[in-house]
Amino acid sequence: MSKLVIENISAGYGSVQVLHNVSLDVNPGETVVLLGTNGNGKSTLLKSVMGLLHPSNGAIRLEVDGQETDLIGKSTEEIVEIGIAMVPEGRRLFSLLTVEENLTLGAYREAARKKINDNLDFCFSTFPRLKERRKQQAGSLSGGEQQMVAIARSLMCDPDILLVDEPSVGLAPILVSQMIAKIKELKELKNLTVLMAEQNFNQAIKIADRGYVIVHGQIEFEGKTAAELENNEMIKQFYLGA
Ligand SMILES: Nc1ncnc2c1ncn2[C@@H]1O[C@H](COP(=O)(O)OP(=O)(O)O)[C@@H](O)[C@H]1O
Ligand SMILES: [Mg+2]
Repeated sequence: MSKLVIENISAGYGSVQVLHNVSLDVNPGETVVLLGTNGNGKSTLLKSVMGLLHPSNGAIRLEVDGQETDLIGKSTEEIVEIGIAMVPEGRRLFSLLTVEENLTLGAYREAARKKINDNLDFCFSTFPRLKERRKQQAGSLSGGEQQMVAIARSLMCDPDILLVDEPSVGLAPILVSQMIAKIKELKELKNLTVLMAEQNFNQAIKIADRGYVIVHGQIEFEGKTAAELENNEMIKQFYLGA
C-alpha cells in the first residue's frame, strides 16, 4: 500500500494562484478529510494530484516501501495506471450512456480490464439499486443514484487510493449520511486509502481518521485525529454550527 505525500504545492489557473504552499499526506489505509467551504481550493488540490492541473511549485509523490514515485509531470492516464482514482465533483457521468456503460468505461486501467466482470459484480452487490437500473441512462437517475454511479465507476479501475470530491453536494441530508457511510464501508471492503474533500464538516468527520481545513488555498488547521477536528474551537465556531 502506498502513501500519498503533497509537499508545498502552489497551483492555480492562469495568473490566478489558488493554492499557496499546501502540504498534506495520507498514510496507507487512512481516511483523511480535506475540509473547507466553497471556493477555498479543495477541488484544485485533488485535480493537481490527478494531473489535471500542473502545480507551479512543490512535489506530489507516492511512497511505496521506501520507493518514491513523482506524480507531477505525469499524465492523468499514468496516474490512474499507478492506482489513484477520483470521484469528481458533480459526478461527471456520461448522461446518455447507461449505468453499465458508465461503469465499464471506468475500467480503462490496464490492471482492471481483466477484472471487469468481477468489479461489475462487486459494484452491483454494493449498490443493488444500480443493478436494477443498469440499462437505464445515467442522466435519468436521481442525484443520489448518480453519485453511486460516480463512486462505482471509480472502483472499476481497482484503485489503491481514492480521491472523493464533495460526495455530499446536492444530496438530501439522509442521502448524505448514507453516502458517507458507504464510502467508509467501501474503504474497508477494498482496503482503500481515501482522501475526501468536503464542505459538510459534520458528516465528513464521522468517517475521518484525521484531516485538514483549507481556507483561501492554505492549510489553516491540521487535526491529527478526528477528535482534534471535532473539538477545535475554530471549527466548532465556524463550521459545526456550535
Ligand atoms: N477552471 C478554473 N478557472 C479559473 N478559476 C478557477 C477554476 N476552477 C476554480 N477556480 C477558482 O479557484 C478557486 C478555488 O476553487 P476550487 O478548487 O474549485 O474550490 P473548492 O473545491 O474548495 O470549492 C475559486 O476561487 C475558483 O473560482
Ligand atoms: Mg470543489
